[in-house]
Amino acid sequence: MTNDVLIIGGGIIGLACGVELKLRGANVTVLCRDFTAAASHAAAGMLAPDAENITNEAMLTLCRRSRNLYLDWTEKLTKLTSLNTGYWPCGILAPVYKQPENKQYKNANWLDKHTINQYQPDLGADVVGGWWYPEDGQVDNRVLIKVLRTAAENLGVIFEDRITVEAISQQQGKVTSIQTNAGLFHANHYLLATGAWTNQLLPLPMRPRKGQMLSLRVPDFVTELPLTRILFGENIYIVPRRNRSIIIGATSEDVGFTAENTPKGIQGLLQSAIQLYPQLENYPLQELWWGFRPTTPDELPILGNSHCDNLTLATGHHRNGILLTPITATLIADLICEQKADPLLANFHYSRFSTVSSTTTPMLIPATITNGHRTPEFQTTVQDSPLIIAGKSFKSRLMTGTGKYRNIQEMQQSVAASGCEIVTVAVRRVQTNAPGHEGLAEALDWSKIWMLPNTAGCQTAEEAIRVARLGREMAKLLGQEDNNFVKLEVIPDAKYLLPDPIGTLQAAEQLVKEGFAVLPYINADPMLAKRLEEVGCATVMPLAAPIGSGQGLKTTANIRIIIENAKIPVVVDAGIGAPSQAAEAMELGADALLINSAIALAENAPAMAYAMNLATVAGRIAYLSGRMPIKEYASASSPVTGTITG
Ligand code: GLY
Repeated sequence: MTNDVLIIGGGIIGLACGVELKLRGANVTVLCRDFTAAASHAAAGMLAPDAENITNEAMLTLCRRSRNLYLDWTEKLTKLTSLNTGYWPCGILAPVYKQPENKQYKNANWLDKHTINQYQPDLGADVVGGWWYPEDGQVDNRVLIKVLRTAAENLGVIFEDRITVEAISQQQGKVTSIQTNAGLFHANHYLLATGAWTNQLLPLPMRPRKGQMLSLRVPDFVTELPLTRILFGENIYIVPRRNRSIIIGATSEDVGFTAENTPKGIQGLLQSAIQLYPQLENYPLQELWWGFRPTTPDELPILGNSHCDNLTLATGHHRNGILLTPITATLIADLICEQKADPLLANFHYSRFSTVSSTTTPMLIPATITNGHRTPEFQTTVQDSPLIIAGKSFKSRLMTGTGKYRNIQEMQQSVAASGCEIVTVAVRRVQTNAPGHEGLAEALDWSKIWMLPNTAGCQTAEEAIRVARLGREMAKLLGQEDNNFVKLEVIPDAKYLLPDPIGTLQAAEQLVKEGFAVLPYINADPMLAKRLEEVGCATVMPLAAPIGSGQGLKTTANIRIIIENAKIPVVVDAGIGAPSQAAEAMELGADALLINSAIALAENAPAMAYAMNLATVAGRIAYLSGRMPIKEYASASSPVTGTITG
């Protein structure tokens, strides 16, 4: 038990962790630079996991768990301080201007135009209906942070205000002290809760995402509160408080720490708010402000252990800091006081950003293979983001396998030449020591390659679930403690090796519930892909053609539809036989490819792996560059305008 914790950061996360740690018996000091600069001061206080449409399954679970804690947690704070926190489970209405195609959503009810206007009279005339999220709500964040500070002070937490932390001194994997403008601070354990400013202290990928906001007041002549539910529109929300303030937010701007409100930002907010609820146009303006959300590349928080034994991280809560406060405080106190790591924390570990060797850059490929290949001497201006699967970030968009190689050396060379960071492994074949699968544990460097256990050989959902669990154990044994990935294959038919859609959906649903990041292999069926996304799969993996056939893209039309509709990565898997086909799939907008047979069965497997690496990169760059339109007739390369005519 660590009895002495120093918290860096006096925003809501630092305060709530301070209270929780103190309640569990730790001596706590909080270093606070400027309380009013914290995102928690700027926020609107929405508790909106459902309305925010969070698609990452682990994040959604975390957010909902936190929302479920809110009532008890705020009551506990009220007991400690005799103060009200402004927690109000008022529900959220999300009016829309266009009829949605699908009116069935978990945790939301569709309301037609008439009904939504009964729930909330005087909505804008363009509103055609909307969603009702009964479990979402709000808390008055500015009140809440004052209550938290009072609770912390009443409990004996020590606050050091106006402290700027300058550096975190470390020695041999331990923090030794914190350097500040007021001298050194020491503790047994440290907690970093520095929000948008995190990467000024540690090299974590954190950026500020500016949000501009404003508030209006309900005029005195309006006696009853006109709004009693949050209105959540596209790029706009209106949060009515019981004290007659109406909070309107928020822009989302990638402009660094650029301070101040701008006419453009405020105009946009007012315009959208008035369209949603026209009466606002006559309400008096009360306040304008801005803040900086702490945002990581995948927009998920960083929670849990760090590279130092005695430093814990709780930062990067992006749009959901107020919502995630109770669960963050609970999980962080469990971790620091009891060394108990909730399994969900694995999804938010900082290491997801420490990607392995760069793979998309052909220059990194061994010289023997690059012979004769000219690398570009210019910098392209195409901007790409990493491939993110279940919160883990990868630079390479090519995944490979380990099967069908003539020998283990060829497999090793091919994996290296392909530049891949994810290698799929058939759990059953490893278990039975099938030819080519002996010594796999030692053959690849699993500290650099992310294992994707697959359920190949499973004919039913039940078998696949069992094998997925074994796969998780296998990854753990190889040192990938936080690896919960599984490539789900349910294939009853041995001739065509086509996946069973019903069994796959059933198994996916169960595995998602068990906390797996599920990557299902499917026929290129857009409806099935959607259903799998809805049950929480991390990707979909539609086939280009039957496994091992090398026929190339036979399902282009359906893959296009899947890509168009998916909010999760689409990985084209199976059937690709040549680099031209790999490039073609990437040009369509696939997020990644999985290629095994076309590499392993090539006469020169490592060289083919390299070719697939280049093709994947080329296809991706081409997709990002936007190809020319196809024309029916010829169009001369040299323009004719300005030519001398006889
Ligand atoms: N939580 C809403 C926002 O960050 O704008």
